[in-house]
This record gives sequence, C-alpha cells and structure tokens, in this order.
Amino acid sequence: MQKVLIIGARGMLGQELVSLFKSDRDYKVTAWDFDNIDVTDENQVKEKISKLTPSIIINATGYNAVDLCEKDKAEFEKAKKLNGKAPGYLAKLAKKLDATLVHYSTDYVFSGMPELPEPAGCGGSCNSCSLHEGFVPQLGFDEDAIPEPVQKYGKSKLMGEIAVQKFGEKYYIIRLSKLFGKPAKAKTAKKSFFDVMLAVGKKNTEVNVVDEETSCFTYAPDLAKKTKEIIEAGKPFGIYHVANEGACTWHQAVVELYRIAKLKTKVIPVSSDEFPRPAQRPYVSTLINTRLNPMRSYKLALREYLKNK
Ligand SMILES: NC(=O)c1ccc[n+]([C@@H]2O[C@H](COP(=O)([O-])OP(=O)(O)OC[C@H]3O[C@@H](n4cnc5c(N)ncnc54)[C@H](OP(=O)(O)O)[C@@H]3O)[C@@H](O)[C@H]2O)c1
Repeated sequence: MQKVLIIGARGMLGQELVSLFKSDRDYKVTAWDFDNIDVTDENQVKEKISKLTPSIIINATGYNAVDLCEKDKAEFEKAKKLNGKAPGYLAKLAKKLDATLVHYSTDYVFSGMPELPEPAGCGGSCNSCSLHEGFVPQLGFDEDAIPEPVQKYGKSKLMGEIAVQKFGEKYYIIRLSKLFGKPAKAKTAKKSFFDVMLAVGKKNTEVNVVDEETSCFTYAPDLAKKTKEIIEAGKPFGIYHVANEGACTWHQAVVELYRIAKLKTKVIPVSSDEFPRPAQRPYVSTLINTRLNPMRSYKLALREYLKNK
C-alpha cells in the first residue's frame, strides 16, 4: 500500500484527487488543507510531512487570484510565497524522503504569442513551399516551449516550476488551463467560468463574451484521473500538459455551454477591450500535449459535468 499525501484537499482539484485515490485500496490517503499545514512555512513542511513519510506528495494548493495579485503588492507577495516558494520546500523534502512530488502549473506561464510552426521538412520561414499545402499549424505551446509570463500570477507560477526543477528529483510538473468542475470547498474558492455563465445565461436574453484568449478547458475529475495514470504508468519525471481537447475562446465555450444546457440566450462575441482587467491575459495559450494520450474533448466533459450537477 502506498502512502499518498494530498495538500489543498478542499480545492476544486484537490477534492477530486482525494475521492479518486480513496476509492483505490492500493493507497492510504492523507488529505490536508490550510488547517492542517501551511505549506508556505518551510519548518511545518519539514516537520509535519517527515513524520508522515508519504511515498507520493500531491500539491494541489494554489494562489489563483490573477487580477488581485496584479494590482496589489501584498497579494503578489502572497502569490510568490504559495505559488513560487512553497513548491521548492515540498520538492526539497520529497527528495529527502525519496518521494514522488506532483505539482500543478498553468498555461499562464506562456506569453500568448506562440511561434508559427512549419510543416515537417520545411526548415525556413518560407510559408510558401509545397510542404505548406494543406498544412494546418497547431497554434500553442508544447512542454518544451519557453515560458515568458505576461502577468504577475504567471510569474509566481513560473517561480514554482523553477524551484521544483532546482530542488526536486522525482517530480511531475503538470500544466493545466481553465479548470472547471464541482465548486471547491476551499475558503479561497472561485466559481468556475461555466457555473458563472450558466447563472448569467438563465437571467439574461443576451450576453457579451470575449472572443479571444484561446486555450483549453480542464475538467477536474479528468485531471485527477490523468494524474493517477501518470504516476502509475511510471512516466518519466518532468513536465506534462494535461487539458481536455478542443482549444476555444471564451465565446466559443459559452455557445457550447448554452447549446448543451438548451438555453436560448444570445452570445455576442466581443473583444477583450470591452472587459478591461488589471492583468494581461495570453492571446493564445493552448497547451500542446506531446507526451501523453490525448484527453477527451471538453465538450464531452462539460456534458458530463452538467448532467451530474
Ligand atoms: N483554477 C484554475 O483555473 C487553474 C488554472 C491553471 C492552474 N491551476 C492550478 O491548479 C492547482 C489547483 O487549483 P484549484 O483551482 O483546485 O485551487 P483552489 O480551489 O483555490 O484550492 C486551493 C487549495 O489550497 C489550499 N491552500 C491555500 N493556501 C494554502 C497553504 N498556505 N497551505 C496549505 N494549503 C493551502 C486551500 O485551502 P483553504 O480552503 O483552507 O484555504 C485550498 O484547499 C493550483 O496549483 C492552481 O494554481 C488552476
């Protein structure tokens, strides 16, 4: 039986990890939250986790208030402590215990301006040789793309990735984007986009939705399952991209949401300038997965989520 420690157990992702691992008798699960441990305190990390001696540590904690930490210095300090430094403390301790660490990061580590890929065999940026005929480039960022965050939240998450790589040994850094699922029991919980837009759609005959920021949605139960698969398959340690298939803009996602929910609300595409926010978002931040079997489409996952709500 393997001892697995899940931290951030009341979070949107954490709660799915806990129920999945608990349903498998091969694991003895310890589920911790802020009440049990403050991962930004290195002494607590060392003392409390050393006593437990887990062979797997899953860090599902996170500071996710993208706009708040952009405009407020004290909040950015909090983001750096939780997203940037704590993963390093966990990585150091995991190495000492010879445990596997799973840590989650984000598509927001990327700039939003992906390179335009060339078809196989075309070396230059010609855009015109015969190899380009019928070639549809997949725009986005693969696991080896260079991170260049354009807002403070992304910077804090990148600090965490760097710390895990610097101090860790047996680690998986899993990048995800636009998480959705059952609302977290966490105090810091944000409602997921689909729940917000469903409520808005029921009250209005038309809504304006940003038709930009193309990326993939990630269904929390699917991410939990994929995390368990990665661990159990003994995949090489390193960086993975886990998101549901089907990159889309916010507008495209709401059209799909209302179609499934059979809402007649009109969805009007608008530019991001219509909703000014403190933090800049990547224009395209699709996570390209080259290392794992693809996940099901977000449309299927969304259908399941709405059915079970
Ligand atoms: N949500 C997204 O759209 C999104 C997108 C990309 C990446 N991610 C990443 O995915 C991971 C999971 O995100 P999520 O949305 O599931 O997070 P979440 O719902 O906000 O949950 C975060 C959890 O962390 C706990 N926590 C906060 N500070 C802590 C501390 N100092 N020590 C111990 N526990 C602490 C919270 O506990 P309390 O309830 O006690 O405060 C809560 O249970 C994070 O790494 C996040 O950055 C999320």
